[in-house]
Amino acid sequence: MEKFVFFGGKGGVGKTTMASAYGVKSAAAGLDTLVVSTDPAHSTSDVFDQQFGDDPAAIEGRDRLWAMEIDPDEEVEHHLMETKRALGDQVSAAMVNEIDRQIEMAHQTPGAYEAALFDRFVDVMQSADGFDRVVFDTAPTGGTLRLLGLPEFLEGWIDRLTRKRERAIDLYEKAAVGNNEPRRVMDGDPILARLRERKAFFEYAGETLREEAAFFLVVTPDELSLRETRRAVEGLADRGLSVRGLAVNRLTPEPEPHEEGRGARYLRARVDTERDRLRELREGFDQPVVASVETRVEEVKGDLLDDVAAELDVGVGRPA
Ligand SMILES: Nc1ncnc2c1ncn2[C@@H]1O[C@H](COP(=O)(O)OP(=O)(O)OP(=O)(O)O)[C@@H](O)[C@H]1O
Ligand SMILES: [Mg+2]
Repeated sequence: MEKFVFFGGKGGVGKTTMASAYGVKSAAAGLDTLVVSTDPAHSTSDVFDQQFGDDPAAIEGRDRLWAMEIDPDEEVEHHLMETKRALGDQVSAAMVNEIDRQIEMAHQTPGAYEAALFDRFVDVMQSADGFDRVVFDTAPTGGTLRLLGLPEFLEGWIDRLTRKRERAIDLYEKAAVGNNEPRRVMDGDPILARLRERKAFFEYAGETLREEAAFFLVVTPDELSLRETRRAVEGLADRGLSVRGLAVNRLTPEPEPHEEGRGARYLRARVDTERDRLRELREGFDQPVVASVETRVEEVKGDLLDDVAAELDVGVGRPA
């Protein structure tokens, strides 16, 4: 299994639950494992009954298992400050206010949230040397996909900006020193250096996601979730990322044959419907179903988490 493992899927289907359960399983197999949560609801803290912050913290009562929670709003704020600082260093004092205004506007656009979160994501991947495995509970499908599209998008964008910037410097130097003087090298240019640094960052991200990451999708046995899963599989494939398996969650338990009454009839009918959905999943997708987890009476935490971990048919082998 790859070093980085992602559990994607629609909102509320059980991504945090599955990511945490897989983390438990991976740690139990002897791998130093970090579970990274990116949802604003702090659900990893609920699962493990412990507060987590922006740095990996050991989970009490669990060996080899760490968790951290990335707060998306804080990331946007941090990204904003960081960008202002990086650009502010490079322009005249008179320009700083104008640039700050522009950057603030840019951070209110819809993609800014994903961009900031993605940066942090990649940061975590880059600095995860101390861990054998890192498990992400990704944001709901649509946003995640846009997030994963950023490397390609920005690469092209940065290339174009770099060429423009090179031309600008070239023209400036022609004007300043005339055509006969030796050209100053452009390597010292701070804006270009910044652009190249960002490009390398996103190249690393794309490469790592394609070569060192495995993706699983969590799906509930209903039509909406199936459709969403289909779209997610295709969306990921468009990015050169293939989904390894489907984890089905929230299956309805079947009543015993002797049980009668309205409740039992309802459950039986519901189980039938879900069987059809499961069949669609098994026959209509190339990916194997790697888990069929029933709905529990209570939230999945504590011992229940170990039960769910045991139901996950996802390998935990050490990354190559
Ligand atoms: N099989 C299950 N049985 C009972 N409760 C479950 C089951 N799976 C998940 N839950 C509960 O449902 C809630 C949502 O699950 P979870 O937080 O894992 O979903 P999510 O996909 O991460 O949601 P979000 O999109 O909001 O991040 C949690 O309270 C969790 O404990
Ligand atoms: Mg979640």
